Amino acid sequence: MNLQLIPAPDMLGLPAHPVLLLVLLNATLALHWVFVGAVLGGTLIVLHNAVTGRGDATRARLNQAILSFLPFMLSMGVTLGVAPLLFVQVLYGHFFYAANVMMALWWLLIIPLVVGTTYLFYVAKLRLSAGRALGPLLPAILAGMLLVLAMILSGNMTLFQTPSAWESVWRLHGAGFFHGGGMVGRVIFAVFGFAALGAMFVLFLGKMGLAYDEEADRAAIEIGLRAAPVCIGLQLAAGILLVVLLPAEQRKAVFNGSLVSLFSVLSIGCLAGSLVLFVKARKSPTLSALVVPTAVYVVGLILIAFARDGIRRAALAPHFQLGELAIHPQWGPFALFLGMLVVAAAAVITLLRLARQTE
Ligand code: HEM
Repeated sequence: MNLQLIPAPDMLGLPAHPVLLLVLLNATLALHWVFVGAVLGGTLIVLHNAVTGRGDATRARLNQAILSFLPFMLSMGVTLGVAPLLFVQVLYGHFFYAANVMMALWWLLIIPLVVGTTYLFYVAKLRLSAGRALGPLLPAILAGMLLVLAMILSGNMTLFQTPSAWESVWRLHGAGFFHGGGMVGRVIFAVFGFAALGAMFVLFLGKMGLAYDEEADRAAIEIGLRAAPVCIGLQLAAGILLVVLLPAEQRKAVFNGSLVSLFSVLSIGCLAGSLVLFVKARKSPTLSALVVPTAVYVVGLILIAFARDGIRRAALAPHFQLGELAIHPQWGPFALFLGMLVVAAAAVITLLRLARQTE
Protein backbone atom coordinates (compact mmCIF):
# COMPACT_ATOMS: atom_id res chain seq x y z
CA MET A 1 0.00 0.00 0.00
CA ASN A 2 0.95 3.64 -0.34
CA LEU A 3 2.07 4.68 3.17
CA GLN A 4 1.80 8.33 2.09
CA LEU A 5 -1.94 8.04 2.68
CA ILE A 6 -1.42 7.87 6.46
CA PRO A 7 -1.23 11.47 7.69
CA ALA A 8 1.17 12.54 10.45
CA PRO A 9 -0.33 12.52 13.97
CA ASP A 10 -1.47 15.84 15.46
CA MET A 11 1.68 17.63 16.66
CA LEU A 12 -0.19 18.91 19.75
CA GLY A 13 0.05 15.39 21.18
CA LEU A 14 -2.19 14.11 23.96
CA PRO A 15 -3.74 16.30 26.70
CA ALA A 16 -3.47 13.45 29.27
CA HIS A 17 -1.94 10.00 29.67
CA PRO A 18 -3.34 7.62 27.00
CA VAL A 19 -4.56 5.18 29.68
CA LEU A 20 -6.92 7.85 31.11
CA LEU A 21 -8.16 8.68 27.60
CA LEU A 22 -8.68 4.97 26.79
CA VAL A 23 -10.66 4.45 30.00
CA LEU A 24 -12.90 7.43 29.15
CA LEU A 25 -13.21 6.29 25.52
CA ASN A 26 -14.27 2.75 26.37
CA ALA A 27 -16.56 3.67 29.27
CA THR A 28 -18.45 6.26 27.19
CA LEU A 29 -18.54 3.93 24.17
CA ALA A 30 -20.22 1.21 26.26
CA LEU A 31 -22.81 3.76 27.45
CA HIS A 32 -23.35 4.81 23.79
CA TRP A 33 -24.04 1.15 22.96
CA VAL A 34 -26.53 0.83 25.86
CA PHE A 35 -28.71 3.58 24.37
CA VAL A 36 -28.34 2.91 20.62
CA GLY A 37 -28.77 -0.79 21.46
CA ALA A 38 -32.04 -0.06 23.27
CA VAL A 39 -33.16 1.85 20.15
CA LEU A 40 -32.28 -0.84 17.60
CA GLY A 41 -33.41 -3.72 19.83
CA GLY A 42 -36.56 -1.84 20.91
CA THR A 43 -37.41 -1.26 17.23
CA LEU A 44 -36.99 -4.99 16.51
CA ILE A 45 -39.46 -5.76 19.34
CA VAL A 46 -41.92 -3.20 17.89
CA LEU A 47 -41.55 -4.98 14.54
CA HIS A 48 -42.05 -8.38 16.19
CA ASN A 49 -45.22 -7.13 17.94
CA ALA A 50 -46.52 -5.60 14.72
CA VAL A 51 -46.03 -8.89 12.84
CA THR A 52 -47.15 -11.45 15.45
CA GLY A 53 -49.64 -9.33 17.42
CA ARG A 54 -51.92 -7.98 14.69
CA GLY A 55 -55.23 -6.85 16.17
CA ASP A 56 -53.93 -7.40 19.73
CA ALA A 57 -54.71 -4.21 21.73
CA THR A 58 -52.18 -5.02 24.49
CA ARG A 59 -49.31 -5.35 22.02
CA ALA A 60 -50.40 -2.11 20.30
CA ARG A 61 -50.28 -0.27 23.66
CA LEU A 62 -46.88 -1.81 24.39
CA ASN A 63 -45.63 -0.65 20.98
CA GLN A 64 -46.95 2.84 21.67
CA ALA A 65 -45.10 2.89 25.03
CA ILE A 66 -41.84 1.66 23.45
CA LEU A 67 -42.10 4.18 20.60
CA SER A 68 -42.73 7.09 22.94
CA PHE A 69 -39.33 6.40 24.60
CA LEU A 70 -37.29 5.72 21.45
CA PRO A 71 -36.64 9.34 20.30
CA PHE A 72 -35.32 10.12 23.81
CA MET A 73 -33.17 6.96 23.85
CA LEU A 74 -31.80 7.81 20.38
CA SER A 75 -30.92 11.36 21.41
CA MET A 76 -29.13 9.97 24.48
CA GLY A 77 -27.29 7.48 22.23
CA VAL A 78 -26.22 10.20 19.81
CA THR A 79 -25.09 12.50 22.65
CA LEU A 80 -23.17 9.65 24.24
CA GLY A 81 -21.66 8.86 20.83
CA VAL A 82 -20.04 12.29 20.73
CA ALA A 83 -17.93 11.52 23.83
CA PRO A 84 -16.10 8.49 22.32
CA LEU A 85 -15.93 10.42 19.02
CA LEU A 86 -13.86 13.11 20.76
CA PHE A 87 -11.61 10.60 22.54
CA VAL A 88 -11.09 8.51 19.42
CA GLN A 89 -10.05 11.59 17.45
CA VAL A 90 -7.56 12.62 20.15
CA LEU A 91 -6.01 9.15 20.26
CA TYR A 92 -6.27 7.97 16.66
CA GLY A 93 -7.31 11.15 14.80
CA HIS A 94 -5.03 10.71 11.78
CA PHE A 95 -6.48 7.24 11.06
CA PHE A 96 -10.05 8.12 12.01
CA TYR A 97 -10.27 11.24 9.81
CA ALA A 98 -8.62 9.48 6.88
CA ALA A 99 -11.31 6.76 7.06
CA ASN A 100 -14.05 9.43 7.38
CA VAL A 101 -12.85 11.04 4.14
CA MET A 102 -12.58 7.73 2.31
CA MET A 103 -16.14 6.77 3.25
CA ALA A 104 -17.36 10.41 3.14
CA LEU A 105 -20.66 9.77 1.41
CA TRP A 106 -21.63 7.06 3.90
CA TRP A 107 -20.26 8.97 6.84
CA LEU A 108 -22.35 12.06 5.98
CA LEU A 109 -25.39 9.83 5.48
CA ILE A 110 -25.39 9.29 9.28
CA ILE A 111 -27.00 12.72 9.81
CA PRO A 112 -30.08 12.31 7.55
CA LEU A 113 -30.46 8.73 8.79
CA VAL A 114 -30.51 9.79 12.46
CA VAL A 115 -32.88 12.72 11.76
CA GLY A 116 -35.12 10.54 9.55
CA THR A 117 -35.26 7.77 12.16
CA THR A 118 -36.30 10.23 14.87
CA TYR A 119 -39.01 11.65 12.60
CA LEU A 120 -40.36 8.21 11.71
CA PHE A 121 -40.48 7.20 15.40
CA TYR A 122 -42.88 10.10 15.97
CA VAL A 123 -44.92 9.17 12.87
CA ALA A 124 -45.27 5.57 14.14
CA LYS A 125 -46.19 6.67 17.66
CA LEU A 126 -48.78 9.21 16.45
CA ARG A 127 -50.33 6.57 14.24
CA LEU A 128 -50.87 4.32 17.26
CA SER A 129 -52.11 7.13 19.51
CA ALA A 130 -54.66 8.02 16.80
CA GLY A 131 -55.98 4.43 17.16
CA ARG A 132 -54.67 3.27 13.77
CA ALA A 133 -52.85 -0.03 13.20
CA LEU A 134 -49.07 0.26 12.89
CA GLY A 135 -48.47 -2.53 10.38
CA PRO A 136 -45.02 -4.08 9.84
CA LEU A 137 -43.77 -1.76 7.05
CA LEU A 138 -42.85 1.30 9.13
CA PRO A 139 -41.04 -0.66 11.89
CA ALA A 140 -39.24 -2.68 9.19
CA ILE A 141 -38.04 0.55 7.50
CA LEU A 142 -36.91 1.91 10.89
CA ALA A 143 -35.03 -1.31 11.72
CA GLY A 144 -33.41 -1.18 8.24
CA MET A 145 -32.29 2.43 8.73
CA LEU A 146 -30.77 1.61 12.13
CA LEU A 147 -29.05 -1.42 10.67
CA VAL A 148 -27.50 0.75 7.93
CA LEU A 149 -26.31 3.16 10.64
CA ALA A 150 -24.64 0.31 12.55
CA MET A 151 -23.02 -0.90 9.28
CA ILE A 152 -21.67 2.58 8.48
CA LEU A 153 -20.18 2.88 11.99
CA SER A 154 -18.61 -0.59 11.80
CA GLY A 155 -17.39 -0.06 8.22
CA ASN A 156 -15.70 3.18 9.18
CA MET A 157 -14.16 1.89 12.43
CA THR A 158 -12.84 -1.22 10.64
CA LEU A 159 -11.50 0.80 7.70
CA PHE A 160 -9.55 3.13 9.97
CA GLN A 161 -7.63 0.21 11.46
CA THR A 162 -7.03 -1.36 8.01
CA PRO A 163 -4.71 1.06 6.13
CA SER A 164 -3.85 -1.70 3.64
CA ALA A 165 -7.38 -1.26 2.17
CA TRP A 166 -7.27 2.55 1.94
CA GLU A 167 -6.04 2.80 -1.64
CA SER A 168 -8.77 0.55 -3.06
CA VAL A 169 -11.54 2.27 -1.06
CA TRP A 170 -10.27 5.72 -2.03
CA ARG A 171 -10.53 4.85 -5.72
CA LEU A 172 -14.30 5.36 -5.31
CA HIS A 173 -13.74 8.96 -4.07
CA GLY A 174 -15.78 8.81 -0.88
CA ALA A 175 -18.52 6.53 -2.20
CA GLY A 176 -16.76 3.27 -1.29
CA PHE A 177 -18.22 1.16 1.49
CA PHE A 178 -15.80 -0.98 3.45
CA HIS A 179 -16.89 -4.49 4.42
CA GLY A 180 -13.52 -6.25 4.72
CA GLY A 181 -11.16 -6.73 7.69
CA GLY A 182 -13.74 -8.66 9.75
CA MET A 183 -16.39 -5.90 9.48
CA VAL A 184 -19.24 -8.37 8.77
CA GLY A 185 -18.50 -10.30 11.98
CA ARG A 186 -18.40 -7.03 13.94
CA VAL A 187 -21.83 -5.95 12.70
CA ILE A 188 -23.48 -9.30 13.40
CA PHE A 189 -21.96 -9.35 16.90
CA ALA A 190 -23.12 -5.77 17.55
CA VAL A 191 -26.65 -6.34 16.25
CA PHE A 192 -27.29 -9.40 18.46
CA GLY A 193 -25.94 -7.39 21.40
CA PHE A 194 -28.26 -4.51 20.49
CA ALA A 195 -31.20 -6.93 20.29
CA ALA A 196 -30.35 -8.10 23.84
CA LEU A 197 -30.17 -4.49 25.05
CA GLY A 198 -33.55 -3.78 23.43
CA ALA A 199 -35.02 -6.75 25.31
CA MET A 200 -33.62 -5.39 28.60
CA PHE A 201 -35.03 -1.94 27.81
CA VAL A 202 -38.54 -3.35 27.19
CA LEU A 203 -38.22 -5.53 30.29
CA PHE A 204 -37.56 -2.51 32.50
CA LEU A 205 -40.31 -0.52 30.78
CA GLY A 206 -42.74 -3.18 32.01
CA LYS A 207 -41.11 -3.60 35.42
CA MET A 208 -41.27 0.14 36.13
CA GLY A 209 -44.94 0.21 35.07
CA LEU A 210 -44.34 2.56 32.13
CA ALA A 211 -46.27 0.64 29.45
CA TYR A 212 -49.70 2.32 29.97
CA ASP A 213 -51.51 -0.49 31.85
CA GLU A 214 -50.88 -3.69 33.78
CA GLU A 215 -51.49 -6.01 30.83
CA ALA A 216 -49.01 -4.15 28.63
CA ASP A 217 -46.50 -4.10 31.52
CA ARG A 218 -46.88 -7.88 31.89
CA ALA A 219 -46.43 -8.39 28.14
CA ALA A 220 -43.28 -6.22 28.21
CA ILE A 221 -41.77 -8.27 31.05
CA GLU A 222 -42.64 -11.54 29.32
CA ILE A 223 -41.22 -10.51 25.94
CA GLY A 224 -38.10 -8.98 27.51
CA LEU A 225 -37.40 -12.01 29.68
CA ARG A 226 -37.89 -14.37 26.76
CA ALA A 227 -35.77 -12.37 24.27
CA ALA A 228 -32.84 -11.24 26.47
CA PRO A 229 -31.19 -14.65 27.12
CA VAL A 230 -31.82 -15.84 23.54
CA CYS A 231 -30.17 -12.72 22.08
CA ILE A 232 -27.22 -12.94 24.49
CA GLY A 233 -26.77 -16.60 23.47
CA LEU A 234 -26.80 -15.58 19.80
CA GLN A 235 -24.31 -12.80 20.56
CA LEU A 236 -21.95 -15.31 22.18
CA ALA A 237 -22.22 -17.53 19.08
CA ALA A 238 -21.60 -14.47 16.88
CA GLY A 239 -18.48 -13.79 19.00
CA ILE A 240 -17.02 -17.09 17.73
CA LEU A 241 -17.79 -16.07 14.13
CA LEU A 242 -16.23 -12.66 14.81
CA VAL A 243 -12.96 -14.23 16.01
CA VAL A 244 -12.90 -16.59 12.98
CA LEU A 245 -13.41 -13.67 10.56
CA LEU A 246 -10.74 -11.45 12.17
CA PRO A 247 -7.53 -10.95 10.16
CA ALA A 248 -4.78 -13.27 11.49
CA GLU A 249 -2.71 -10.68 13.38
CA GLN A 250 -5.81 -9.43 15.21
CA ARG A 251 -6.92 -12.97 16.08
CA LYS A 252 -3.44 -13.57 17.51
CA ALA A 253 -3.99 -10.61 19.87
CA VAL A 254 -7.06 -12.38 21.29
CA PHE A 255 -5.18 -15.59 22.07
CA ASN A 256 -1.66 -14.46 23.01
CA GLY A 257 -2.27 -14.22 26.76
CA SER A 258 -2.17 -10.41 26.72
CA LEU A 259 -4.59 -7.95 28.31
CA VAL A 260 -6.78 -8.35 25.20
CA SER A 261 -7.12 -12.08 25.99
CA LEU A 262 -8.04 -11.23 29.59
CA PHE A 263 -10.67 -8.68 28.55
CA SER A 264 -12.08 -11.14 26.00
CA VAL A 265 -12.36 -14.00 28.51
CA LEU A 266 -13.87 -11.76 31.19
CA SER A 267 -16.39 -10.31 28.74
CA ILE A 268 -17.47 -13.82 27.67
CA GLY A 269 -17.85 -14.67 31.38
CA CYS A 270 -20.04 -11.59 31.95
CA LEU A 271 -22.26 -12.29 28.94
CA ALA A 272 -22.65 -15.98 29.88
CA GLY A 273 -23.31 -15.04 33.54
CA SER A 274 -25.91 -12.49 32.49
CA LEU A 275 -27.62 -15.12 30.27
CA VAL A 276 -27.84 -17.64 33.14
CA LEU A 277 -29.15 -14.99 35.57
CA PHE A 278 -31.83 -13.88 33.08
CA VAL A 279 -32.99 -17.49 32.68
CA LYS A 280 -33.14 -17.81 36.50
CA ALA A 281 -35.04 -14.52 36.79
CA ARG A 282 -37.92 -16.01 34.77
CA LYS A 283 -39.12 -17.86 37.90
CA SER A 284 -39.39 -14.74 40.02
CA PRO A 285 -38.70 -11.49 38.11
CA THR A 286 -38.15 -9.19 41.10
CA LEU A 287 -36.42 -5.85 40.43
CA SER A 288 -33.10 -7.05 41.88
CA ALA A 289 -33.32 -10.32 39.86
CA LEU A 290 -33.44 -8.14 36.72
CA VAL A 291 -31.00 -5.40 37.72
CA VAL A 292 -28.14 -7.81 38.52
CA PRO A 293 -27.95 -9.57 35.09
CA THR A 294 -28.37 -6.21 33.35
CA ALA A 295 -25.49 -4.72 35.36
CA VAL A 296 -23.35 -7.81 34.64
CA TYR A 297 -24.14 -7.42 30.93
CA VAL A 298 -23.11 -3.72 30.96
CA VAL A 299 -19.81 -4.62 32.67
CA GLY A 300 -19.37 -7.15 29.83
CA LEU A 301 -19.93 -4.34 27.31
CA ILE A 302 -17.20 -2.21 28.90
CA LEU A 303 -14.82 -5.20 28.74
CA ILE A 304 -15.76 -5.74 25.07
CA ALA A 305 -14.90 -2.09 24.39
CA PHE A 306 -11.46 -2.60 25.98
CA ALA A 307 -10.83 -5.87 24.10
CA ARG A 308 -11.94 -4.19 20.85
CA ASP A 309 -9.51 -1.33 21.39
CA GLY A 310 -6.66 -3.76 22.12
CA ILE A 311 -7.42 -5.56 18.84
CA ARG A 312 -7.39 -2.18 17.05
CA ARG A 313 -3.98 -1.34 18.53
CA ALA A 314 -2.68 -4.75 17.36
CA ALA A 315 -3.98 -3.97 13.85
CA LEU A 316 -2.35 -0.53 13.83
CA ALA A 317 0.93 -1.69 15.44
CA PRO A 318 2.92 -1.89 12.15
CA HIS A 319 2.07 1.78 11.43
CA PHE A 320 1.52 3.48 14.77
CA GLN A 321 1.64 3.04 18.55
CA LEU A 322 0.01 5.30 21.12
CA GLY A 323 3.36 5.54 22.94
CA GLU A 324 4.71 7.57 20.00
CA LEU A 325 2.48 10.54 20.87
CA ALA A 326 3.84 13.29 23.08
CA ILE A 327 1.88 14.02 26.27
CA HIS A 328 1.20 17.65 27.17
CA PRO A 329 -1.13 17.54 30.19
CA GLN A 330 -4.00 20.06 30.15
CA TRP A 331 -5.34 19.79 33.70
CA GLY A 332 -6.94 23.28 33.67
CA PRO A 333 -9.58 22.45 31.00
CA PHE A 334 -10.05 19.00 32.59
CA ALA A 335 -10.83 20.57 36.00
CA LEU A 336 -13.19 23.02 34.27
CA PHE A 337 -14.93 20.08 32.56
CA LEU A 338 -15.32 18.20 35.86
CA GLY A 339 -16.67 21.35 37.55
CA MET A 340 -19.24 21.89 34.77
CA LEU A 341 -20.19 18.21 34.96
CA VAL A 342 -20.99 18.53 38.68
CA VAL A 343 -23.02 21.75 38.06
CA ALA A 344 -24.93 20.13 35.16
CA ALA A 345 -25.62 16.94 37.17
CA ALA A 346 -26.93 19.03 40.08
CA ALA A 347 -29.18 21.00 37.68
CA VAL A 348 -30.58 17.79 36.14
CA ILE A 349 -31.27 16.24 39.59
CA THR A 350 -33.02 19.46 40.72
CA LEU A 351 -35.16 19.54 37.56
CA LEU A 352 -36.11 15.86 37.97
CA ARG A 353 -37.13 16.51 41.62
CA LEU A 354 -39.24 19.50 40.57
CA ALA A 355 -40.87 17.46 37.79
CA ARG A 356 -41.73 14.68 40.26
CA GLN A 357 -43.28 17.16 42.71
CA THR A 358 -45.60 18.49 39.98
CA GLU A 359 -46.76 14.98 38.95
C1 HEM B 1 -24.70 10.38 15.12
C2 HEM B 1 -24.61 9.70 16.17
C3 HEM B 1 -23.52 8.73 16.53
C4 HEM B 1 -22.24 9.00 16.91
C5 HEM B 1 -21.60 10.36 17.08
C6 HEM B 1 -21.58 7.73 17.13
C7 HEM B 1 -20.28 7.56 17.53
C8 HEM B 1 -19.61 6.37 17.62
C9 HEM B 1 -18.20 6.22 17.83
C10 HEM B 1 -17.21 7.36 18.00
C11 HEM B 1 -17.91 4.91 17.81
C12 HEM B 1 -16.55 4.19 17.91
C13 HEM B 1 -15.60 4.58 18.95
C14 HEM B 1 -14.34 3.81 18.82
O1 HEM B 1 -14.01 3.28 17.77
O2 HEM B 1 -13.64 3.70 19.82
C15 HEM B 1 -19.15 4.20 17.61
C16 HEM B 1 -19.24 2.85 17.49
C17 HEM B 1 -20.38 2.23 17.16
N1 HEM B 1 -21.63 2.79 17.04
FE1 HEM B 1 -22.11 4.74 17.15
N2 HEM B 1 -22.48 6.73 16.89
C18 HEM B 1 -23.67 7.28 16.52
C19 HEM B 1 -24.84 6.63 16.22
C20 HEM B 1 -24.97 5.28 16.19
C21 HEM B 1 -26.18 4.58 15.87
C22 HEM B 1 -27.53 5.24 15.61
C23 HEM B 1 -25.89 3.25 15.89
C24 HEM B 1 -26.74 2.06 15.66
C25 HEM B 1 -27.95 2.01 15.37
C26 HEM B 1 -24.49 3.13 16.24
C27 HEM B 1 -23.82 1.94 16.34
C28 HEM B 1 -22.49 1.81 16.62
C29 HEM B 1 -21.78 0.55 16.51
C30 HEM B 1 -22.34 -0.79 16.09
C31 HEM B 1 -20.46 0.82 16.84
C32 HEM B 1 -19.30 -0.20 16.88
C33 HEM B 1 -18.70 -0.28 15.51
C34 HEM B 1 -17.60 -1.32 15.45
O3 HEM B 1 -16.61 -1.20 16.15
O4 HEM B 1 -17.73 -2.27 14.67
N3 HEM B 1 -23.98 4.37 16.45
N4 HEM B 1 -20.18 5.12 17.50
